[in-house]
Amino acid sequence: MRAHEAGALHGDIGNRGPAWLRTPVDVNALVPQLWPRHVARGPAGALTVAGLDVRDVAAEFGTAAYVLDEDDLRGRCREFRAAFPDADVYYAGKAFLCRAVVRMIAEEGLFLDVCTGGELATALSAGMPPERIGFHGNNKSVAELTRAVDTGVGRIIVDSFTEIDRLTALARERGVRPRVLLRVTVGVEAHTHEFIATAHEDQKFGFSLAGGAAATAAFRILDEDVLELRGLHSHIGSQIFDASGFEVSARRVLALQAQIRDARGVELPELDLGGGFGIAYTTQDDPASPHELAKRLRKIVDGECAAENLAVPHLSVEPGRAIVGPAVFTLYEVGTVKDVDGLRTYVSVDGGMSDNIRTALYDASYSATLANRASSTVPMLARVVGKHCESGDIVVKDEFLPADVQPGDLLAVPGTGAYCRSMASNYNHVPRPPVVAVRDGHARVIVRRETEDDLLALDVG
Ligand code: LLP
Repeated sequence: MRAHEAGALHGDIGNRGPAWLRTPVDVNALVPQLWPRHVARGPAGALTVAGLDVRDVAAEFGTAAYVLDEDDLRGRCREFRAAFPDADVYYAGKAFLCRAVVRMIAEEGLFLDVCTGGELATALSAGMPPERIGFHGNNKSVAELTRAVDTGVGRIIVDSFTEIDRLTALARERGVRPRVLLRVTVGVEAHTHEFIATAHEDQKFGFSLAGGAAATAAFRILDEDVLELRGLHSHIGSQIFDASGFEVSARRVLALQAQIRDARGVELPELDLGGGFGIAYTTQDDPASPHELAKRLRKIVDGECAAENLAVPHLSVEPGRAIVGPAVFTLYEVGTVKDVDGLRTYVSVDGGMSDNIRTALYDASYSATLANRASSTVPMLARVVGKHCESGDIVVKDEFLPADVQPGDLLAVPGTGAYCRSMASNYNHVPRPPVVAVRDGHARVIVRRETEDDLLALDVG
């Protein structure tokens, strides 16, 4: 049954939607796991972030805006570091990257995973030490590889035979010995949206384990002895809650490690298990803490190494979403409120699929709350939509909002730190929102708002 059919059956606005939505919640309450740690509802009823009233944020920086709770992000970096004390934690920059965030994660002792020349340029321009950078990507160009080699990037995760050839040629030409990991496709069906699963056989990343390409690639690198093969790498997908995928992946990749040892007498010193750790977007999600994750991964790796009689390699992980995702919310202003007779109420905000494509692309679920005030009116089941010319331009599919939501109100959508600004577009020539970092009651723009002049500057015809 679709949400509007349920509503029609029950006949009152509070009863629309799937079963889990039929118990109206306290619309003023904030579910802690969905929000950055320093967000609260202040005495005046408005949200505050690190002590700053979001009405002041909106007045100073405009809406839509991504608001980053800087201490929340730093705290998550520290938790990963503490949970993985003898492993390297690479922040996956694809989740969200700008110079200020590069500096934050570097100050917190993390490494950085980049996957394009643009991300690499951002990291280097922020002063990230190149040896702390890992370079990913299934189609790195010669120019990108050259830059990585010349700047001394710490490791390159090779993804194809073509890339091995390119990198080998470059290394010979320059007389250097780049450190590489081999991206292995372990054949795991991760329980996540198909677009963000990356270790099943039929997709573009890595060398297949089952087909033998991974072993062939490892032998080629070892036999040519131009690149320094440091270890194997596996990333099974994103927004994953179930540790069993990591277990299968570690088992298979370590079996390859043992095969390489048996064939060439080499035990590769490193192992990267990728990222993909899920976060809570709604109350339905129950993510593991970095500490629990680390414990499980350690146990899996130790067990598999013992079974294969291997020394435990130096581990690394690559969380992106779990570090930046929960640290950000998007602040919007409501423009129109439309009750579509008997179906549902549409609350339109001043952004949409251009600043958060995830709902449209992955059918992702988000939540929203009235941010500029509390309300004591009855909740209504609403759909939060954007301003784009598509009916699929949905930010939050179903949410209880106070029935008195009106134009000019502010709405906040939590969990938008990962893959929202980084996947933002200029669809309908809507300039992309700024990223405002707040710490100790003080706000600063770390990515400024795009302007119409910025858009027109590219339009040189
Ligand atoms: N390492 C590798 C090799 C990756 O490909 C990724 C993500 C990560 C680490 C970080 O994964 P995370 O911890 O952030 O889940 N746009 C999609 C997600 C694509 C993820 C791509 N690779 C989304 O919005 O859900």
